[in-house]
Amino acid sequence: MYKNRKTEPALAPIGVFDSGVGGLTVVREIMRQTPSERIVYFGDTARVPYGSKSKNTILRYSRQIIRFLRTQNVKAIVVACNTASALALPDIQKELDIPIIGVVQPGAKVAAETTRQKKVGIIGTEATVNSAIYTHMIQAVDPDIQVISRACPLFTPLVEEGWLKDPVTEQVAARYLDTFKESDIDTLILGCTHYPLLRSLIGRLMGNSVQLVNPAYETASALKNLIEQEDLCNPIPPQLQNDMYQFYVSDAADKFKQFANSILPYDIETTKQINIEEY
Ligand code: DGL
Repeated sequence: MYKNRKTEPALAPIGVFDSGVGGLTVVREIMRQTPSERIVYFGDTARVPYGSKSKNTILRYSRQIIRFLRTQNVKAIVVACNTASALALPDIQKELDIPIIGVVQPGAKVAAETTRQKKVGIIGTEATVNSAIYTHMIQAVDPDIQVISRACPLFTPLVEEGWLKDPVTEQVAARYLDTFKESDIDTLILGCTHYPLLRSLIGRLMGNSVQLVNPAYETASALKNLIEQEDLCNPIPPQLQNDMYQFYVSDAADKFKQFANSILPYDIETTKQINIEEY
């Protein structure tokens, strides 16, 4: 029944990308909140981490990935990476003729609404923290909110390695989070899409008085609103669609697949490796 309507933009997939597996925490939310949407995911596993790289490099990588995603005819793009959202999105937004959103703005908004003491902590990559973008966006909502940031560069490789419940990860986390001990924050943004995978550890170390904000949930809601506004919602129910989710990486496809299967609500069958430098 829908076969001849394939070219309709609403039937096209959403493109989602990250430097590696972290963006899957956003994909998980998109699957929950917009179950009829098809997704093409790209994880840049050959070039992870992005968090220690310069703006120019992150911009170049992001442009290449977007060129690849456009070959898949995506109707909208989600930058499921805080680092790329912080450093590349402002430039890329001006270059695209399809909707694109990142994770920083939705995360900043919810944190500003959550804090009661007007004290917010942020953990993220060095690039995200140094960009100070969360601070600017939170203070744009309420200039009286005090923001304390801490880069946690070792978290990304630990997560990519799958060491989610390892004593080494626990020690590293305790050392990083010590920064917030005397600070009285009541809200902590998990400002890197890899970090929600360490949520229970971070939550335990921070204690019950600190609310953890995972921007993935708000990003998926923002995406839902955006495609509704743009009249881009896929009208076909998921049970009538095949091959809804496609996963691409730039390296180590099997390892990625295993990881994805441990955190997504269903098992992915294939992950394809592409040479992203060709785009
Ligand atoms: N997951 C990414 C982020 O949200 C990047 C981690 C990295 O590649 O350093 O910032």
